[in-house]
Amino acid sequence: MKRSVILDVDTGVDDAIAILLALNLPQLEVKAITMVSGNVHVDEVTESTKTVLGLTDYHGIRLGKGSSVSLRRKRFHAPEVHGKDGLGNIRKRYDTYKARIRTERAVPLILETIKRTKIPITIIATGPLTNIARAILKDKRTMRCVKEIISMGGSFEYRGNTGPLAEFNYYVDPDAADVVARSGIPLTVVPLNVTETVPLKREDIIRLTGKSNTLTARFIYDVTKFYMDYHKKVESFNGGFMHDPLTVVIAAIPSIVKKKIQRTMLVETGGIYTGGTTLTRDAKGREKHAPVVSIVMEINRQKFWITFRKYLFT
Ligand code: BDR
Ligand code: CA
Repeated sequence: MKRSVILDVDTGVDDAIAILLALNLPQLEVKAITMVSGNVHVDEVTESTKTVLGLTDYHGIRLGKGSSVSLRRKRFHAPEVHGKDGLGNIRKRYDTYKARIRTERAVPLILETIKRTKIPITIIATGPLTNIARAILKDKRTMRCVKEIISMGGSFEYRGNTGPLAEFNYYVDPDAADVVARSGIPLTVVPLNVTETVPLKREDIIRLTGKSNTLTARFIYDVTKFYMDYHKKVESFNGGFMHDPLTVVIAAIPSIVKKKIQRTMLVETGGIYTGGTTLTRDAKGREKHAPVVSIVMEINRQKFWITFRKYLFT
């Protein structure tokens, strides 16, 4: 049976690829896509998500526009990584494809989808957790029916990519991550230390698009250019991390996970230098009121790339 999912995205170059993957993977049935401010402002996220959807057979999918601001923190975006439009500044080139879908409001759409769908919903969140936290704060009872939230975020026994120790999604809205972790809804965290084990290299994308000349392949080639240039300049490698596509594949093919641990997770919601940092101890740890979550620590990389190639480049 397919897994019914809501995707919550802050499109984003890697979110865009994650959306394409989620719609192509036979294990997933995407019921709705909700959008949040993160990589870029939610207005840009909405336009870009519609453009990505237009490249697919998107019929039946509902779209929800969500928060433009975090629960408490000041707005923070990353146009230097993802471009001003979140798509490496290539959205205009694909304008003609843009899906014509009416946009609803994210939180009511999340709650309605959970109530309406017979199979318990899984939420795959590849952006800051603001929409999900707002849905919990609005109607916890309904949100408790969610089977699992799979969230790309946090960083364990590793550095950060935004704060010294903080990963971007939890840095942007640490309060939301805290609300979600404490909600009692089963939470699986896919952290930076794992998503950075799947870099897509420039040479790979050249090879893949050389073999496959589909619209999806061409789009992925175009959309990753700016993202890869950024990593080349700042991280000194010619490529880009596939954080969000990996999160989607974990939802579709859980056996890809080689090591998952149960730990308490505290998110630093204050801090001058440490906002958004994730702290953990084993589940029997001493922080009495700390929530326990599942944290993915290792995946089968070969299986990930096989899946990536199969559902995006054939
Ligand atoms: C996360 O932040 C964003 O830049 C990416 O889309 C990903 O969701 C990685 O830290
Ligand atoms: Ca993202």
